[in-house]
Amino acid sequence: MSAPQNKTIRHFLDLHHFDTATLRAILDDAATMKRNRAAYADRLRGRTLAMIFEKPSTRTRVSFEVGMMQLGGNVVVLKHDDMQLGRGETIADTARVLSRYVDAIMVRTGPETRLQELAAHAAVPVINGLTNESHPCQIMADIQTFEERCGPIAGRIVAWTGDANNVATSWVHAAVRFGFTLRLACPKPLRPPAALMDWANAEGTGAVVNMDTPEEAVRGADCVVTDAWVSMNHSMEEKQERYDALGPYQVNERLMGLAKPDGIFLHCLPAHRNEEVTDAVIDGPRSAVWDEAENRLHAQKAVLAWCMDA
Ligand code: CP
Repeated sequence: MSAPQNKTIRHFLDLHHFDTATLRAILDDAATMKRNRAAYADRLRGRTLAMIFEKPSTRTRVSFEVGMMQLGGNVVVLKHDDMQLGRGETIADTARVLSRYVDAIMVRTGPETRLQELAAHAAVPVINGLTNESHPCQIMADIQTFEERCGPIAGRIVAWTGDANNVATSWVHAAVRFGFTLRLACPKPLRPPAALMDWANAEGTGAVVNMDTPEEAVRGADCVVTDAWVSMNHSMEEKQERYDALGPYQVNERLMGLAKPDGIFLHCLPAHRNEEVTDAVIDGPRSAVWDEAENRLHAQKAVLAWCMDA
């Protein structure tokens, strides 16, 4: 859990690799660029980002591409099946070759070992655009959104209800680094891995706790977060089992009513309406999901600038 950040190449692989000051500096930069987009129109002039997608995307693809354009840079979008990677070329060789053409690589892939292998063999920064295990760019945007709406997140309470998936893992990393309480309400088989909880407890900052029910988790929370019950890496066979287990974890008006009166709702999207969240909540006044989607753009512009030391 404590893999060190490479000192010479500025990869952005997972939040727990970073110290709090670096993450805070990236978020401050994101807020500055959001306030004054025009002032940074040349910040990545002449730089090119390659984006490898081994899974589908709307927000990640568009926000990285538009972000590079707004900073004066360029992108190359590479789908797995269109690359020699899809025909057996190794990740290591792909990393070596792309490093001769571009200034950074963003990858959306499955097992995090593929991300790590890419980073190990790249001579340019690699950015995690989602793996089966984590989604750090999403949570940078989520923290930015929370703080815009509610003020500093340190000392506050975030409730996660549903499956402790890759997004939840990055929330755990964020709770430790930003010093807030994360209450996780998940069916027992879908709770966070013990190693992740052990790491969070050993770090001694923030507080990451499993709760027995979604009601317990949400009561008095500043923010309620959930995610799809069935995602890209689940087989058809797993679906019904997951629906049955996760039904009681739906975020609806009754559950949101237990949060603080000014508590907000976040969802990384895409949402499966009236499964993990009802229309009334996602379209309601406490939902910040569209700001959250927009902030992918701003947070990732700052991640890109940090990675390229610009
Ligand atoms: N939240 C998120 O990563 O969205 P996409 O899958 O559309 O990129």
